[in-house]
Amino acid sequence: MPLLQPLPEENMYQAYGIYLLESKHRLIRRLKKAYQPSVHGHKTWSSSFLLMDYLQHEPLKKKSRILEVGCGWGPGAVFCAHQFKAKVTGLDIDREVFPFLDVLAELNEVKISPMVRRFESLKGKELGKFDCIVGSDICFWDSLVKALSQMIDRAMNNGVKRIIITDPGRPTFYELCDLLRKKHTVELFEWYATEPRHVTGEVVEIRPAVQG
Ligand SMILES: C[S@@+](CC[C@H](N)C(=O)[O-])C[C@H]1O[C@@H](n2cnc3c(N)ncnc32)[C@H](O)[C@@H]1O
Repeated sequence: MPLLQPLPEENMYQAYGIYLLESKHRLIRRLKKAYQPSVHGHKTWSSSFLLMDYLQHEPLKKKSRILEVGCGWGPGAVFCAHQFKAKVTGLDIDREVFPFLDVLAELNEVKISPMVRRFESLKGKELGKFDCIVGSDICFWDSLVKALSQMIDRAMNNGVKRIIITDPGRPTFYELCDLLRKKHTVELFEWYATEPRHVTGEVVEIRPAVQG
């Protein structure tokens, strides 16, 4: 059977111009026998649709260099590559997520560079190579609050212009926003997405502090 059949295929759906797969899809079921993500990277999380919707309203510059942190299956990464022709790196601590990301990238005819790393280990100079950093549902443990805030400080100190994180509204996410407000320009929005279904949550956009 070819990798993909034309839509409508069972357990495949579309959101914001990209194709996505349900956990019940035949390719996902097959992959799950061999790969078991263990840090919550076992599905497409709803906050990724908030990221897609927000970026439709506040687009990336074409061909930007984008880092998606905690990419999981990479819905956000695939969207950025597809919609904005961005050069995207998908970073995740868990190497088992990447076969799923590969399938989504192939399905949407885009290339995503994989990086198996914990974001805590990214040096300022490495972060500074990107124009924008994005992430969806990546601040879900207390220990991630300080680690993400420090990574964002390093990124901003090294010239990254935009960082966008979406979240269902976890207390840890709001703690992160409070920490970031002390050093950077922080805009927090209640947001909703309409595809593939109605989803509500939060978006934070972090930009360099305005001088003077
Ligand atoms: C809730 S999932 C979200 C996945 C994806 N962003 C989405 O919206 O579908 C969180 C992801 O963050 C990854 N992750 C957790 N801690 C991490 C860390 N310290 N560094 C990099 N990735 C991490 C997990 O492996 C998982 O894939």
